[in-house]
Amino acid sequence: MNRTKAVLSDVQGVYSGPEGNLWKLIMGEQIHIGGFAQSKILAEKAGISKGEKVLDLCSALGAGLRFLARFYGVRGYGLDATEAMITKAQEATAADGLSSMIEYRKGDVRNIPWQDGFFDVVWGEDAWCYVEDKESMIREAARVLRKGGRIAFSDWVEGPSGWTEETAQRICGFMKFPFIGKREYWEKLLLDSGFEISSSEDCTKHFAGCIDLYISMLTEQLMFDALRIIGWDMDMFQAMGGEMAFMSQQAHAGAFGRCRITAVKK
Ligand SMILES: C[S@@+](CC[C@H](N)C(=O)[O-])C[C@H]1O[C@@H](n2cnc3c(N)ncnc32)[C@H](O)[C@@H]1O
Repeated sequence: MNRTKAVLSDVQGVYSGPEGNLWKLIMGEQIHIGGFAQSKILAEKAGISKGEKVLDLCSALGAGLRFLARFYGVRGYGLDATEAMITKAQEATAADGLSSMIEYRKGDVRNIPWQDGFFDVVWGEDAWCYVEDKESMIREAARVLRKGGRIAFSDWVEGPSGWTEETAQRICGFMKFPFIGKREYWEKLLLDSGFEISSSEDCTKHFAGCIDLYISMLTEQLMFDALRIIGWDMDMFQAMGGEMAFMSQQAHAGAFGRCRITAVKK
């Protein structure tokens, strides 16, 4: 697909303002498809174990790391480019009593501020779709992982049936994704960056069901709360509903989807 106009400052705008709050309203603190259950599947696939050092690229509210610290006993490190996300993540981590186990830094995943070979695992949940230069991010991920370290992530992708350029522009423009590829795009990038793929799955069917769930939550339960977040703007609510309905339609057709991949640094 051709790139949209979205750049990092647009994404920071989303996660510093009403749009980010809307995602939190419907997804909770874990701002990714399927919440706890999907994180657990990813953690098991990655073979996460106690005491490992895990770097979450695009850590947002830090709920991914708090999940890993609480249930797997890892040492967590979060990197996110949005100041508001770092502040909220630190506050939530302190409230959960996990500050001694998790550290956050503000920065861009294209330039990871940690030393070579420091981590056992690089982790990402439904966030790398926002990154403009995914090649640099994966190169950096490989650099900061020890040999034999793992990368484990889920992400929003072009679905297995493929999409038209018009659909790609409409969805990625609405979502502020600069571009996204198919699951095979990630596989190739990982292989080219010195990883061996351990598992690669298409999760599009589950993804489509979750988009429907969010639409139902917004229309059948949370409309008042959502309207407050967007300043009682009914036109905007309807327009966003229209875009979500389009995403659902495309997901059910297999044109827009989600994948989960784990790989080992050779
Ligand atoms: C959907 S949220 C991530 C959700 C999180 N993984 C979770 O499961 O809760 C996307 C996050 O990516 C961050 N982000 C986007 N592009 C980034 C970049 N180039 N470097 C660092 N953070 C970035 C945004 O600031 C935002 O907090």
